[in-house]
Amino acid sequence: MKQVENQNLIQQNAFVNGEWITAKNGATFDVINPFDTTIIKAVADCGKTETKEAIQAAHDAFEVWKKRTANDRSSVLHKWYALILKNIDDLAVLLTLEQGKPLAEARSEIIYGASFIQWFAEEVRRTFGDIIPPHRSDVRIMTIKQPIGVVAAITPWNFPVAMITRKVAPALAAGCTVVIKPSEETPLSALALATLAEEAGFPKGVFNVIPTLNAKEVGEEMTSNPLVRKLSFTGSTAVGKLLMRQCAATVKKVSLELGGNAPFIVFDDADIDAAVKGAIAAKYRNAGQTCISANRIYVQYSIHEGFLEKYKKAIDQLVIGNGLDPATIIGPLINQKAIKKVNRLIKNAEENGAILHPTNYIVEQNLYPPVILTNVELTMQIHNEEIFGPVTAIYKFSTEEEVIQMANNTPYGLASYFYGRDYARIWRVAEALEYGMVGINTGAISTAVAPFGGVKESGIGREGSTYGIEEYMEVKYMCWGEV
Ligand code: SIN
Repeated sequence: MKQVENQNLIQQNAFVNGEWITAKNGATFDVINPFDTTIIKAVADCGKTETKEAIQAAHDAFEVWKKRTANDRSSVLHKWYALILKNIDDLAVLLTLEQGKPLAEARSEIIYGASFIQWFAEEVRRTFGDIIPPHRSDVRIMTIKQPIGVVAAITPWNFPVAMITRKVAPALAAGCTVVIKPSEETPLSALALATLAEEAGFPKGVFNVIPTLNAKEVGEEMTSNPLVRKLSFTGSTAVGKLLMRQCAATVKKVSLELGGNAPFIVFDDADIDAAVKGAIAAKYRNAGQTCISANRIYVQYSIHEGFLEKYKKAIDQLVIGNGLDPATIIGPLINQKAIKKVNRLIKNAEENGAILHPTNYIVEQNLYPPVILTNVELTMQIHNEEIFGPVTAIYKFSTEEEVIQMANNTPYGLASYFYGRDYARIWRVAEALEYGMVGINTGAISTAVAPFGGVKESGIGREGSTYGIEEYMEVKYMCWGEV
């Protein structure tokens, strides 16, 4: 990894209680570059023992960290933020190497990820309680907010930096301590964040990272250990449900950011060029591997042909290749499992009458070119599953009522988008969509200042924004009698 200047950022061991530790049994696993499938580095493969140790360390450190003033915690977070930006070039290379996204996108992710740290470093100063008018004249009532305790964060590979900071920054700001289990595909970015967290001055035990290939074993310890008081998870709905069940035994608070099946609706009064641009942005960020990727594009009959023509031209411009090459716009998918899923969805659609454009595309290792499916039906797998790849499925619709019904007819409810200019309809549609987030005439909705999260089977809780820190705090009510 010659491209990384600050070699301190390249770590191979777990970070527990302020120390870099190997797995007790000496086991390691390989981190693979999804572009060429070469081994980047072997990393400690931790299990239950190391997880337990990290949780104990986080529990001990909680006693110290929670007593620091908000101002004090804020200043450590600000230092971490500054160090991440100082090391952005190296962090971006590391991210691209292990995740595959183009360097420019990796840089954007690091800026996005760091913005959560900056936001919560400020937000912690405003975790106010209340003075409540009492129900009796001889008492006074007040509330305070207190950190919940040890937080276990299980994070995905699609945003190896931002999905950590979006959980960990509010937790640490609130006064909680954290044990992070990064995805086995992308542990290097998590360990680099730990290096910088240590340099920023978080006390030992406040920030712990457990790389592992054994997600089941580590997840079971995180969800069953009574010292963990909160679980925050981003990943599939199936795994989220399992973790939620496991957390029930010790009644842990949970935040779950799960799968999506985002509708992207284009009404006949939309600015078509803007809608194409927005759809490409919402679909092809991270090669379509985001929970908020446009999964089902619904275009009103009268503009369908015009939209399709422009959309085809737009995807022809998307250069696929090595994320380290500055010309690349779409990097590889994460692994062969992802390739197989996309192939299955396309096969099922084609077998049932969908039309593919272009037909002569070539999949090389993990590189999947952008393709479009038309003539798609609501019964096809592609309509009902999260694609997580560079395939756009374009449907036709006639009326507002019909498209709302189609958009809401899913167990998911994370992000949704629509383009149109009629103000009355904008209000109606925005209110009718059963989703946690609605992009109106935009395909880019992610920011630290707004609440990110879903309804229905897309999750519980909100990340980012003023609501994000509440997830890591408990409200305590105090009733003061006369002395
Ligand atoms: C995700 O895919 O889970 C996160 C996407 C984002 O934060 O924009």
